[in-house]
Amino acid sequence: MKKVRKAVIPAAGLGTRFLPYTKAEPKEMLPIVDTPTIQYIVEEALGSGIEDILIITGHNKKSIEDHFDKSYELESELEKSGKTEMLRQVQAISNLVNIHFIRQKEAKGLGHAINCARAFVGDEPFAVLLGDDLVYSKKPCLAQLIDVYKEYGGSVLGVQTVPHAEICKYGCVAGEKIGERTYTVCDLVEKPKIDEAPTDVAILGRYIITPEIFDILSETRPGAGGEIQLTDALRVLAKSGKMYAYDFEGRRYDVGDKEGFLEATVEYALRRDDLKEKFAAYLKSEIEGRL
Ligand code: G1P
Repeated sequence: MKKVRKAVIPAAGLGTRFLPYTKAEPKEMLPIVDTPTIQYIVEEALGSGIEDILIITGHNKKSIEDHFDKSYELESELEKSGKTEMLRQVQAISNLVNIHFIRQKEAKGLGHAINCARAFVGDEPFAVLLGDDLVYSKKPCLAQLIDVYKEYGGSVLGVQTVPHAEICKYGCVAGEKIGERTYTVCDLVEKPKIDEAPTDVAILGRYIITPEIFDILSETRPGAGGEIQLTDALRVLAKSGKMYAYDFEGRRYDVGDKEGFLEATVEYALRRDDLKEKFAAYLKSEIEGRL
C-alpha cells in the first residue's frame, strides 16, 4: 500500500461570502486570533505525516505565498531588536514543509481545481484539505483518515452528521456502517435539496483520494452551481473502487461563513493560556450587560 505523502489545498475561491474583506485578500488569510486559517490547515497536514503540499491559488493570493516564504527584512529586524521568540515563530513558518504553488486560471469549481494538481500528485493516493473547514481535535483530522486508509486502502472521506436543514450546503454521503465511525460509501450527492438528501452525513473538507480520480475529473461535466464538482467525480470513483467515509472526532468550524469564523475566533481565544482569563471575563460581562 502506497503511503499518503502529498496534500493538496485548494485556495482559489473568490470568497464572496466574506466580502468586502476578500476583495483584495484571500479568505484563507483570515486570522483565527493571530494565525491565518491556512497555517492551521498546513500544520494539520504536517501533523498527519504529509511531506509535500500543493496550494492551488487564484488571483490576489500573493499574501499566501509570502506568508510561507522567508522574510529576510522582518527576520533581521526581529534579530536586531532581540525579539527571539517572535523570530523563532516567523522562521518556523517558512521552515514548515515543502510548499508548492500553482494557479487555477479560471474559477471553474473544486473538481477543476483538484485536476490542476495532477502532475504534482502523479500515481499516488493524496490528501485534500479545504481551507474553509477548520478542525480542532486531539488527533489531527487528516491523521484519523490516514488510519482508516492504512486499514482498508481505497479513498476515504471525512464526514460528520449535520443538522437536516443544512445538508443542502454540502456533499452528502450514503453508506453502510462497517465500524463504530466507518462507513463504506454507496452514493454521493453534491448539495442535495433538503427533501431529496439520502442522509444528513456531510463531507467536511477532508479527503484521501486515489489517483484514478484524475481521469474521471477530466470527463466530469459541470454540476451543482454550474461548477465541476469533486463530489460528482468521487461518485463515479465510488462505483468502480473502494471508498470509505469516516465520522472524524473533533470540532469543525466553517470559517468561510461569518458565524463560523466568529465561533472559531472566540473558541480558539478561549483555549489560549495567554488570553483565556481576561477574554472570558470580558465576554461574560459583555453578555451580562446585554441581557
Ligand atoms: C465543498 C464541497 C462539498 C463539501 C464542502 C465542505 O463545497 O463541494 O462537497 O461538503 O466543501 O465544506 P463548498 O463549501 O466549496 O461549496
